Amino acid sequence: MGTSHEILALSKLAEKKPSAFFPLGLPVLLIRVGAEIFAVENRCAHMGCPLSSGKLEGYILKCPCHDWAFDIRDGKFTRAPELGIKTYPVEITNGIISVRL
Ligand code: FES
Repeated sequence: MGTSHEILALSKLAEKKPSAFFPLGLPVLLIRVGAEIFAVENRCAHMGCPLSSGKLEGYILKCPCHDWAFDIRDGKFTRAPELGIKTYPVEITNGIISVRL
């Protein structure tokens, strides 16, 4: 169980626009879908491309490099769920998004 790190105000995270942050130097992507906030690793499981410029459709984020697609709810690669990217627990306290790393 990691420690919680404040990232930004909930009001500053745009809907369906993945935003990159580097808490503790780690590449983390925050994604807002409606009232839900997800935090995933901003590094593709294939060859490490940043996923921040990927295309989001529903809960599926597609890598801009070679189109691998991941479910942001659990980080799993859609074609082979044994592969995937890390996901991190998100907490919202007093309008501030924190990620547990
Ligand atoms: S680096 Fe993401 S699909 Fe290849």
